[in-house]
Amino acid sequence: MLTVVLLVTLFPGTITVSINKVDGLHDQAFVDEINAKQTTWIAKFNERFATPEARQAVLGLADVTKTPGNVFVDDYNITDDEIPESFDARQQWPRCESIGHIRDQAACLSCWAVSAAAVMSDRTCIASNGTLNVSISADDLMECSPFCGYGCEPCWPYFAMLTMAHFGAVTGGDHNSNVGCKPYLLPNQNNPRLPGCVRKCQNSYETLYEDDKHYALQPYYVSGIKNWQKEIMTNGPAVVGFQVEQDFVHYSSGVYSHGESNSTANHAVKLLGWGVEDGTPYWLCANSWGSKWGDHGYFKIRRGSNDCNLESNYLTAASAKIVKK
Ligand SMILES: *[C@@H]1O[C@H](CO)[C@@H](O)[C@H](O)[C@H]1NC(C)=O
Ligand SMILES: *[C@@H]1O[C@H](CO)[C@@H](O)[C@H](O)[C@H]1NC(C)=O
Ligand SMILES: *[C@@H]1O[C@H](CO)[C@@H](O)[C@H](O)[C@H]1NC(C)=O
Ligand SMILES: *[C@@H]1O[C@H](CO)[C@@H](O)[C@H](O)[C@H]1NC(C)=O
Repeated sequence: MLTVVLLVTLFPGTITVSINKVDGLHDQAFVDEINAKQTTWIAKFNERFATPEARQAVLGLADVTKTPGNVFVDDYNITDDEIPESFDARQQWPRCESIGHIRDQAACLSCWAVSAAAVMSDRTCIASNGTLNVSISADDLMECSPFCGYGCEPCWPYFAMLTMAHFGAVTGGDHNSNVGCKPYLLPNQNNPRLPGCVRKCQNSYETLYEDDKHYALQPYYVSGIKNWQKEIMTNGPAVVGFQVEQDFVHYSSGVYSHGESNSTANHAVKLLGWGVEDGTPYWLCANSWGSKWGDHGYFKIRRGSNDCNLESNYLTAASAKIVKK
């Protein structure tokens, strides 16, 4: 495997980020081989990720083993016994439509911003008791992050949330949706760096850029899977990172599992629930590869066995700051 080492300039230090090239031949025979090997999930050949370039273009979480920031939260008014066997944030907060919305990061290493924007949309709605139905713009976080990312470069969800805590984030729907101040631009690898922080909404949007800002509080990490569950039950979906293996891009349904992972291709997604399917416990996650990917944009991944090092990472979250106008 070829490893590309990128230098990401970070305030206040410098961190080396390595991304594995997700190499190898992906064809129907590869998918048949996957399906012959495991029993809890089904793979289907996904044309979108047929080339190594296409796979590499979406795995943009900076090395999950190095976590910036050190704010941990583990104080919940829920006992271990009160954690239900299954939970789905879409059912818990039905008035918050963003929870059931799947984004598409396109060929851009922006999962850190896209997953954070999705989570902060959900949390803004939940914290407002369903009165603020917003789609936070991933673009605004990507363009205006002074920490890392700068568009389609790897970064941490923590810094997307920190950007929202310091500078706020405007609204913005999907690419071409015309929704909000800054809809997703769909930048790509040929133009990985956005033209700086544009402090202006699209012309058709009536609210001024500064008046459209929504804020987060200081982001934090949550460690330990019982705390993850309590965090999601209390405050809503959160971001989780894991190591992506070759077979993952062809996931179609069931409970994905791969066991141990040595991959250095990292990815961040929205964690919104958990459950048990045919005896296999799972986490329910929303990916950001469009609603045609996987199970209508979602996937389940085995819970309690540290598959792909998901559970040895931290959950990243922030509370929404609800400003009463
Ligand atoms: C737990 O409940 C107490 C008392 O109602 C409250 O002060 C505290 O903020 C709550 N903590 C969390 C994490 O919700
Ligand atoms: C939240 O919204 C629901 C539905 O409108 C309402 O019944 C409830 O009283 C609200 N809760 C709070 C704490 O405002
Ligand atoms: C919430 O926002 C979405 C997207 O802007 C919109 O389609 C939907 O109608 C809104 N729902 C409510 C209840 O305001
Ligand atoms: C991961 O790396 C270790 C050490 O090189 C090796 O023993 C192990 O077989 C690898 N596991 C996988 C799943 O590739």
